[in-house]
Amino acid sequence: MSDFALGVAVEELEEGQMLAGEFAGEPVVLIRQNGRFCAWSGNCTHLGAPLGEGLLVDGQLRCPWHHARFSVSSGEAVGAPAFQPLTRYMTAVTDGRVFVAAAPTLKVQPVSAKHERPVAAGSGQAGRVVIIGAGAGGYACAELLGRAGHAGTVTLISDDPDPPYDRTVCSKQYLIGMTSREASLMSPALAAERRTGRAVAIDVGDRSVRLKNGERVPFDVLVLATGGDPVRADLPGFDGPNVHVLRTLADADALIAAAGTARRVAIVGASFIGLEAAASLKQRKLDVHVIAPDDVPLKKVLGAEVGRMIRMVHEEQGVVFHLGRRCKSFDGSRLTLDDESTVEADFVVLGLGVRPRTELAAAAGLECAPTSQGGGVVVNGRLETSAAGIFAIGDIARYPDVHAGQPIRVEHWVHAQRQGQYLARALLGKAGEYRDPPFFWSAHFDTGLKYVGHVGSIEGTRVEGEIAKREFTIGYMGKGEERAFVTCGRDLPALTVEAEWEGADPIEAAPVRGTAG
Ligand SMILES: Cc1cc2nc3c(=O)[nH]c(=O)nc-3n(C[C@H](O)[C@H](O)[C@H](O)COP(=O)(O)OP(=O)(O)OC[C@H]3O[C@@H](n4cnc5c(N)ncnc54)[C@H](O)[C@@H]3O)c2cc1C
Ligand code: FES
Repeated sequence: MSDFALGVAVEELEEGQMLAGEFAGEPVVLIRQNGRFCAWSGNCTHLGAPLGEGLLVDGQLRCPWHHARFSVSSGEAVGAPAFQPLTRYMTAVTDGRVFVAAAPTLKVQPVSAKHERPVAAGSGQAGRVVIIGAGAGGYACAELLGRAGHAGTVTLISDDPDPPYDRTVCSKQYLIGMTSREASLMSPALAAERRTGRAVAIDVGDRSVRLKNGERVPFDVLVLATGGDPVRADLPGFDGPNVHVLRTLADADALIAAAGTARRVAIVGASFIGLEAAASLKQRKLDVHVIAPDDVPLKKVLGAEVGRMIRMVHEEQGVVFHLGRRCKSFDGSRLTLDDESTVEADFVVLGLGVRPRTELAAAAGLECAPTSQGGGVVVNGRLETSAAGIFAIGDIARYPDVHAGQPIRVEHWVHAQRQGQYLARALLGKAGEYRDPPFFWSAHFDTGLKYVGHVGSIEGTRVEGEIAKREFTIGYMGKGEERAFVTCGRDLPALTVEAEWEGADPIEAAPVRGTAG
């Protein structure tokens, strides 16, 4: 690895390229852009990924792990899931060599979100912005409005008593015990006014939100970011205290407390959350059993071969699967399955999926898609609902996805954050439609997957590498085109595909409202 204190020959770095190295023992990336050199701290401010293994796209440095985006010219975090800027190092060119010439300066203070996607700080007409939901989308929208100098007020209403936190660690690092509760909280803290309480009604005509305590909160712009509720099972014994769901940090606390005295846990449902919880609780040394009706876990999203590989990853670590089986009842310590077999469990975790929390929107008369089409609040390409000035983002938003070529609704962390950030920029004056393809990641023991795009029903695959060796990329065909892409053990291809697809032209005229997909 190059020691940038000793300098590197200028011709080693071509225009638009970067070089990973170090300065005074710290990782640094050196970038040549527009004929000039700049150097930035080499670890992502989200979870520390090596940025030298990322991708340069249109003046942005993109992180290989969860696709955060940093401005090459300012170091600012311009795309979630990172919110903190990179640290700038000084550079100097002498005798045909470029040197990192000084110790790092203080971190760049972000003053606006204007890079690449221009925002005139404080120029917006959004006035009083009220956001319902302080999860992925709500936090990201409020944070960027604050960072970009929104001249009006931002009020964030949440019925989760905890301050905004990273939901994704609730089934992974936090549940395993690798990260603390404090480290799970979102950073930076928001400048927005935060109200803890449930919004119970939206008055579209009066332009106000009513809270459960009777308070009325007026808005000029309303953002619905209400996320989802975990699906519960209406089965005998499933309303007991040792049957858990996993959506919130408090849910994760309850699982950690239960795991402290338990020996055996049953996970009902082989969903991403169910399987991540299985892996994390196994790492807490519990006997873990997964019960699901599927013949192969995650087959619908990832295909049978990858699903079998994920099952293998779990089985190698001792997780026991009961596939092709449904639960009938739970007596508090034993599950009875539909073939009358039993599974002992000190507690149960339900991983049965999520229902979008659309009840507020529906009651206010906003257009919602029927459950048969996946539900969700119908929005147009600017994420605006059927009521002017009311927007929906994240898990609840059914939006016209450019690359999918149809309206879709997905439940991913970074996707919800990106929609929140897009909306903040749009409210502050940026025109244009939302174009980012969906992206998610999932982690099971030491195996991670990155997924870009969306396919409703897999029509075919293009595999490169070896699935069994956990080193591969797969393109998924849907509606006659490759519309989703997964990688395992290879990060760069997912970044590259994402960059290509966000620049893609619309595949077909995507209907704005109310079309099945
Ligand atoms: C345990 C877990 C792990 C996950 N891991 C991953 C992962 O690794 N990668 C990935 O891509 N995705 C992951 N996801 C999915 C991801 O977290 C969601 O897609 C994302 O949080 C959706 O963001 P959102 O803003 O739409 O909703 P949320 O983050 O759910 O936030 C919605 C907020 O709205 C509040 N709210 C709802 N209704 C009201 C109301 N009426 N009044 C006041 N407040 C209200 C809720 O309390 C909540 O705080 C995970 C989800 C879970 C549960
Ligand atoms: S470590 Fe960079 S986005 Fe997560």
